[in-house]
Amino acid sequence: MAKFHVVRLGVALAVVLLAVAGRAHADELLDELLNEFDDDDEVLLRHIEAKHVSRDYELERELAARIAADHYAYGQAEEEDETPLEGRVPRLTDPCKGVRCGAGRVCSANVAEQRGECICIPECPAETDPRRKVCTNRNETWESACEVHRQRCMCNTRDPGCRHEELRHVHIDYYGTCREMPDCSENDLADFPRRMRDWLFNVMRDLASRNELPEAYMALEHEAETNMTKRWTNAAIWKWCELDGYPHDNTVSRHELFPIRAPLFALEHCIAPFLESCDPNRDHRISLQEWGKCLELEEDDLTARCAEISKEEELNKSSPQDAY
Ligand SMILES: *[C@@H]1O[C@H](CO)[C@@H](O)[C@H](O)[C@H]1NC(C)=O
Ligand SMILES: *[C@@H]1O[C@H](CO)[C@@H](O)[C@H](O)[C@H]1NC(C)=O
Ligand SMILES: *[C@@H]1O[C@H](CO)[C@@H](O)[C@H](O)[C@H]1NC(C)=O
Repeated sequence: MAKFHVVRLGVALAVVLLAVAGRAHADELLDELLNEFDDDDEVLLRHIEAKHVSRDYELERELAARIAADHYAYGQAEEEDETPLEGRVPRLTDPCKGVRCGAGRVCSANVAEQRGECICIPECPAETDPRRKVCTNRNETWESACEVHRQRCMCNTRDPGCRHEELRHVHIDYYGTCREMPDCSENDLADFPRRMRDWLFNVMRDLASRNELPEAYMALEHEAETNMTKRWTNAAIWKWCELDGYPHDNTVSRHELFPIRAPLFALEHCIAPFLESCDPNRDHRISLQEWGKCLELEEDDLTARCAEISKEEELNKSSPQDAY
């Protein structure tokens, strides 16, 4: 990035001016990334959210699903199992079996019609842990991701619980309470690719240890574990391939970066300028080569394999019903 070369000349005034300009530019890009949404972007984001709901959030949804089941007087199959009574209505298969709903929704069984419907989560689990708070694109702190998605669902279904028309488009900007972000210093930015590589590898390893890494990436992970020189490259390939899914077109758009941006933002104030550095030609798309370069990896290892993996993934792709 040219501006950082100039900074290295050590002209004090330039440092000040460029820091301001750099920040303004990064802010602009963030705005672009998060606020200038058209409908396609919104669809994309909903898919990403649906796929990348964290494990915690999955738990939240399970809890909420149970609450919903109570609300709608279905899901007593288990009780019947325990106390089989003669003359009871024969057990129905759960119409919600296999139905996946988007963020903020749960499946509700329509018993009469024997089908599952996605409805807004009736009630989010009470959150006492402040770490579960999220900051939205409106710079408002909410109790949990569930609350944000539930509210959005209500606003999209004309539910009287909708507090504001504009909340139809609310989404999570980053995890944690809304706050003032410190500036990203030149040193911090210089160190960022290393931290990012570390983070990617650790996430991949963690997923693998929990058996949550898709089968196709297990070989990459294993290789990364056993061969230090492949560690960062393979983690980078895995994440890039995973990000490039909406659509799968061999580039990662700025919007496709959302899943890594949100969790990192609260921890890493340099994420915005870093992502900007991943797109030096400003075409709003990041190729695998650009991704490798901004993570400071050797280019050689970065090709071919991703295509194979993504192709296999594509075959298995399933969209959640009613995702947005
Ligand atoms: C967002 O809210 C926080 C906390 O209220 C505040 O410190 C910060 O300046 C706000 N950010 C923006 C961009 O308005
Ligand atoms: C580790 O990976 C490097 C780079 O691809 C390769 O040259 C080397 O042979 C590998 N080492 C082992 C022990 O597999
Ligand atoms: C795709 O599905 C097949 C069969 O269900 C499975 O063997 C394969 O591992 C899956 N691939 C991925 C990438 O999940």
